[in-house]
Amino acid sequence: MESVPNAGYHIPVLLNEVLEALAIKEDGIYVDCTFGGGGHSSHILKALGPKGRLLVFDQDADAARNVPEDARVTFVPHNFRHLKRFLQLHGVPQVDGILADLGVSSHQFDEGSRGFSTRFEGALDMRMDQRSGKTAADVLQTYSESALHKLLEQYGEVTNARTLARTIVEVRKTVKFDTTLAFRNAVSSVVKGNPNKYFAQVFQALRIEVNDELGALKELLEQVPAVLKDGGRAAIITFHSLEDRLVKVFFRNGTFEAEEDHPFESRVRKSPLKLVNKKPIEAGQEELKRNPRSRSAKLRVAEKI
Ligand SMILES: C[S@@+](CC[C@H](N)C(=O)[O-])C[C@H]1O[C@@H](n2cnc3c(N)ncnc32)[C@H](O)[C@@H]1O
Repeated sequence: MESVPNAGYHIPVLLNEVLEALAIKEDGIYVDCTFGGGGHSSHILKALGPKGRLLVFDQDADAARNVPEDARVTFVPHNFRHLKRFLQLHGVPQVDGILADLGVSSHQFDEGSRGFSTRFEGALDMRMDQRSGKTAADVLQTYSESALHKLLEQYGEVTNARTLARTIVEVRKTVKFDTTLAFRNAVSSVVKGNPNKYFAQVFQALRIEVNDELGALKELLEQVPAVLKDGGRAAIITFHSLEDRLVKVFFRNGTFEAEEDHPFESRVRKSPLKLVNKKPIEAGQEELKRNPRSRSAKLRVAEKI
């Protein structure tokens, strides 16, 4: 395996596939929207010459510690949904490549106090950006039963989402879900199947909601055509079927609007992007053995035309 700095923080998935997909130009300008431990970024930097440039985003303050001292790197400690705005701020109207490796890092999971993991006792927080926004506890305490039902079903594929939503609304009248353990204990009577697997799905649903992960991805995708130079490439790694569908639809059509919204335009409207691979790229046997997290990773690549 290639060497990766900060491997204890996070092991990058589909590393070689990403590097190949981006087809890095020595003097190019690239954006890593999800810097994390900088695993992908460190290899992009190796492929860049002295005139190349890499802008890296991460909304989690912990990621800042991994940013290398390298004049070619600019760290943007913000949500990638503001991609275009921050690129303009740094004098970069367009780039040669965009990478996003979605979701949370192993570091975020392993930091019990952040509340992402079912394995540890911690505050029910789950915000990647701790400067603002609602926590997982806020979602559980304030959302309506139908909103909880919907998010548990759609984001977590929780089998008994309706029952769990009803239980949460009932139990919260007397119990405060301050910590991961308090929440697990309070709803333990409705757990179906293996509790660890069950809560992993519930926690995933809460995390996606807390961080508005699908909303941020949509906003990012909508900026891709304007931000990429002609011939530039976007590579996006997803870990959830809803995310993958957004990427697939946008990379194919260059829009989220259905054709029926514009029946007379649809024939002449041409996508500004073309898919580089018809099928998503997935981890090979060797990576699957080495890094179980790669199991659900799907990489899609598009080129600006
Ligand atoms: C899967 S990790 C990326 C790991 C990285 N590729 C590496 O090799 O170390 C995802 C990272 O992206 C950040 N992130 C997720 N969604 C984000 C968003 N909307 N805006 C900015 N950062 C985001 C997370 O905080 C996390 O550090």
